[in-house]
Amino acid sequence: RIVYVLNGPNLNLLGKRQPAIYGYETLADVENDCRRVGQELDLEIEFHQSNAEYQIIDWIHEARERAGGIVINPAAFTHTSVAILGALNACEFPIIEVHISNVHKRESFRHHSYVSLAASGVIAGFGTQGYQLALHRLARLISEAKA
Ligand code: DQA
Repeated sequence: RIVYVLNGPNLNLLGKRQPAIYGYETLADVENDCRRVGQELDLEIEFHQSNAEYQIIDWIHEARERAGGIVINPAAFTHTSVAILGALNACEFPIIEVHISNVHKRESFRHHSYVSLAASGVIAGFGTQGYQLALHRLARLISEAKA
């Protein structure tokens, strides 16, 4: 099955911006990890990042037509975007929300997520390993749905 791994604004700077919070791994490292785990789980990974809200919405629409699930780190759009929530609500497959940092330990504006309303589950504070955990869970949900 195809799985989309989508990343929101500023995650192109991963490894360079606020490493005390987000760590030193780059987004390219995360992509490599996802591809390796994807192979183990027999998932074909479509990995994307954008700083533009409309672009993320367009990828969700694309995934809706051809994928079996989404792993999404919406970054700052998590806390603002009713439009991304709307796009995810139009999908019938499992969605896992990932945050590298423990958002609950941070500013209160990060404690609310619009995206969580559409997510099967949320992973936060496990660093970039959260993406791999999310793919494992997604593989399980996809195989259960098929059974
Ligand atoms: C983030 C948490 C968000 O609050 C923040 O705006 C980000 C990254 C995370 O992965 O920890 O850009 O989604």
